[in-house]
Amino acid sequence: MNDIYIPQSEIQKQLNIADSLKDITKGKKACVITFGCQQNENDSERIAGALEMCGYEITDNSDIADVIIINTCAIREHAEIRALSEAGQFKGRKAADRSIKIGLCGCMAQQSHRREQIYKSYPYVDFIFGTDMHHRLPEIIKTALESKKRVSFITDKPHNEFGVISEGMPVRRESGYKAWVPVMYGCNNFCTYCVVPYARGQERSRKKEEVLAEVESLVKQGYKDITLLGQNVNSFSGGCSFAELLDKCASFEGEYTVRFMTSHPKDASDELIEVMANNPKVAKHFHLPVQSGSSRVLKLMNRKYDREKYLETAMKIKARVPNVSLTTDIIVAFPTETETDFADTMSLVENVGFDMIYTFIYSPRVGTVAAKMEGQIKREIANVRFKALSDLQNDVAQRLNEEFIGRTVRVLSDGYNKNGIPCGRSSQNKIVTYDKYVPEGQFVDVKVENVGAYLLNGKII
Ligand code: 5AD
Ligand code: SF4
Repeated sequence: MNDIYIPQSEIQKQLNIADSLKDITKGKKACVITFGCQQNENDSERIAGALEMCGYEITDNSDIADVIIINTCAIREHAEIRALSEAGQFKGRKAADRSIKIGLCGCMAQQSHRREQIYKSYPYVDFIFGTDMHHRLPEIIKTALESKKRVSFITDKPHNEFGVISEGMPVRRESGYKAWVPVMYGCNNFCTYCVVPYARGQERSRKKEEVLAEVESLVKQGYKDITLLGQNVNSFSGGCSFAELLDKCASFEGEYTVRFMTSHPKDASDELIEVMANNPKVAKHFHLPVQSGSSRVLKLMNRKYDREKYLETAMKIKARVPNVSLTTDIIVAFPTETETDFADTMSLVENVGFDMIYTFIYSPRVGTVAAKMEGQIKREIANVRFKALSDLQNDVAQRLNEEFIGRTVRVLSDGYNKNGIPCGRSSQNKIVTYDKYVPEGQFVDVKVENVGAYLLNGKII
């Protein structure tokens, strides 16, 4: 396990480089723009931490930043187009001020065909770095500042011989009461539609001691909502099972909640379900992506479970964990998906009763098995299926939320929502609005009076 850790000597080298940059970066600002999943958000917090360590002041406003880093996502074409268009925004600024440095990183940067496109069409992008290079950011910034040419820090294998887990680099957390804690990186599952195993490399876990120390320190600092992150958390292999790790993370003193994302249904273990059922600090929320309700499609997706097995796991969770919220991801219009396959997805959604579904239209990804499959589905059909599933889910979610009317839920305050209404999140991760402002990061009890499909509303008691 140790060989995947970056040696402390390397980390020290980076800390020294960061120190040496402080004269040049005095008074300068840096901005990190993030696309994609929670893993990317956490990576951006690490990138911002490293930039701060180099002497930059972090800003949300790219218009006044001297260094801009775009952290990209490659999961679907839409995400890639958005990131490229963001990069395009900086052409004019760069032309007006050559000293500004623009960087691009994340899953898109990791893909050679996208890199070629960026090299060709985005000459004003000054530096590119891969998903396993965050710990080398001081060196990357120094090289970019000194070089007149474009700088690239990419290894074609994201898990190189150098080691890919760095402990001891700073994190600049966006929130003072919610925190991400990665427990493992990468994915070995190779679902046939998915780019993640190529963009983020093989699974590797942090050591359980490192995870526990980070969580304990967060709890001591007053963090109230901690999410353990991994593409497939149940594959955690840092010295104990994931269930045991979760249980231990949720056993420090104080009132706080521990969540986790994401579990693969093939190994959502009984042990994990029991920890959720028995440990009051573990949030009653299980995100369990099903992707399709058709066993035939699941096989083509290489998901390693079938409809029956998924239903069995989902029902076990519902039976063992009272008031649990079950959420999922579904891809519609996977190659060859027939009306019958889609009807299977619709009926599974009815039968399980998900609190929320993230529905995606299948997007072919270069290099994946599914992109080469015959039977790609037309966009018009995909749109119809997407809408039908969303309509059905709205009804299901409304029905499930109605069961909350009259009940009291414990809520962690997020202050105000964007409409100026006091709001927060319940243990089930449901959005709750209420009558009186409560400072961010405080728990309150709310008696639910009325609900929408994705909202509980009530009064503080
Ligand atoms: N097309 C559409 N959705 C995808 N996802 C992953 N790859 C693709 C793709 N090629 C979805 C899956 C996954 C979620 C994070 O993104 O549902 O669970
Ligand atoms: Fe992608 Fe499948 Fe791995 Fe999830 S489990 S990251 S969908 S390959």
